[in-house]
Amino acid sequence: MSRIPSSEITPLQQYLDRRRLLAGLGAVGLGGLAAACGVSGSGGGSGSDSDATGAAAQPTPLELRAGSTTDEFGDALTPLEAVTGYNNFYEFSTNKESVAGMAGSLVTRPWTLDVGGLVAKPRTYDLDELTQRFGSEERIYRLRCVEGWSMVIPWQGFPLAALLAEAQPLGKATHVRLETVFRPEQLPGQRSAFYSWPYVEGLRLDEAMHDLAILSTGLYGKDLLPQNGAPLRLVVPWKYGFKSIKSIVRIDLVDEPPTSLWMNAAPGEYGFYANVNPEVDHPRWTQANERRIGDLGRRRTRMFNGYADATGYGRQASGRGKSVAELYAGMDLSRNF
Ligand code: MTE
Repeated sequence: MSRIPSSEITPLQQYLDRRRLLAGLGAVGLGGLAAACGVSGSGGGSGSDSDATGAAAQPTPLELRAGSTTDEFGDALTPLEAVTGYNNFYEFSTNKESVAGMAGSLVTRPWTLDVGGLVAKPRTYDLDELTQRFGSEERIYRLRCVEGWSMVIPWQGFPLAALLAEAQPLGKATHVRLETVFRPEQLPGQRSAFYSWPYVEGLRLDEAMHDLAILSTGLYGKDLLPQNGAPLRLVVPWKYGFKSIKSIVRIDLVDEPPTSLWMNAAPGEYGFYANVNPEVDHPRWTQANERRIGDLGRRRTRMFNGYADATGYGRQASGRGKSVAELYAGMDLSRNF
């Protein structure tokens, strides 16, 4: 983000090549962590069934069909090892390859989510209660980082709209403010005074109510790993990845646009909306194209990350509510970036 030198923005192929090399050599660790998989007699025993990058000893059904599963444009899922091994989570490190090896320090159980602010029914939820109440569905979304790289990720989660409807926003509520857990003892990056911790993000209430905006609890058929924002993170696929705030503990309904961590850090570079827009460049690099993890070349970036016409996901996609593009009808998106 604002402090990342451009040389760091696209080392993806390098990263994947190195992983392949390590795998070929029989070394499966990342960032110094030894892998716990490759168990003989797998399936039995106690303890963790995942290695440091989240590769399970027993692949989930989704992992098994990853090669034949695509997004709606026919693009392949990004391999699990890249999704869980190449992360932006500044509370741990600004080095994407270091995050997975450090993120184990975050204690993700027990976990509670407070929902409050301008609502008729404020409430504290225990994590398990959330999935019991709101269910869990699969959403295959593209994640487009503002830095110019992207992935296709199969998330599990539930629409943020379901949670907000239960809280009953008051008439004067116009926006939603989301906050990451603040625990400097577990999240060493929060000891740095450079950023205004905790990480905060926000959405307009109608954006938050759009069916595509989800709270995710898992990916590839497994619970989220800490590096991906366990145990609960936002995913808003038509916006740059930094809007998809990780490890959320508070959601408040408010009556003005919340100031996000990135708006505080670099107001000229990161706005409130952060919609994926190939026509509005970042002040320091183009947004017209992107590198999909695993690809050699770059591909063009789509308006709203390809979700302009979407009113919802899958079978809900037609005839219900506004499309993503309609949320911004009449707005100047170069000013509201
Ligand atoms: N949430 C918190 N709390 N801290 C972060 O540093 N990084 C954001 C977003 N959510 C970030 C965060 C950015 S820049 C991106 S691109 C995505 O998380 C990356 O998500 P991933 O690591 O699961 O791919």
